[in-house]
Amino acid sequence: MEIPENIINEAKQRIEPYAVEGFVLGKGDQNSDIMVVGEAPGENEAVKGVPFIGRAGKELDKQFNLLGWDREKVYITSVVRSRPYRWVEANNESGQRKANRKPNQKEIIAHAPLLDYQIRKVDPSVIVALGGVAFKRLTGGEQRMSDVVGEVFETRVLCWDIEGGQWSESERTYEIIPLYHPAAVFYNPKIRAEIESSLEKVRDYLGQNRKK
Ligand code: URA
Repeated sequence: MEIPENIINEAKQRIEPYAVEGFVLGKGDQNSDIMVVGEAPGENEAVKGVPFIGRAGKELDKQFNLLGWDREKVYITSVVRSRPYRWVEANNESGQRKANRKPNQKEIIAHAPLLDYQIRKVDPSVIVALGGVAFKRLTGGEQRMSDVVGEVFETRVLCWDIEGGQWSESERTYEIIPLYHPAAVFYNPKIRAEIESSLEKVRDYLGQNRKK
């Protein structure tokens, strides 16, 4: 996707003060009616600059399979485009390694105009929010994932107003569908059945004619 250079450069500048690395723009069909929004890249994604190519990516493909989707036919992006990390102790020479962490609000705002631009450009009807960070960024909703997963929220989305320094609402509405982040099952394998039933619900809602 062609993204104006100033939007990219300003996003990179705004995130510079924070402990992040790499930069991933997004991938897929920018004419798709479905956009998938993750949280932030992990280690593999940050190195290669491609979304969801690590362990979570394999899990995402399983979810897409259940939905009958092809990853090339949707547009995949995320709330923050650089990998947020923290140092943790490790059994290696330096005694430490980088671990993933959730992006903080300042990092989310730093990259918000990029996601806002991509949403306007793709102009999808459906936006799948992978996990609580994406759902809250898009809707302001702070519900627990287990309470909303697979529901459809017909709503405007939040956009960052750079000049005003605050969130505002998009003009149009979208069907926002929260799903568990694909990595969630690694921490909590018990949710596998819930994931599958939420995907079936989404597949039924979208119906044959809107399958991508
Ligand atoms: N999690 C995300 O949100 N995006 C990726 O690309 C990988 C993991």
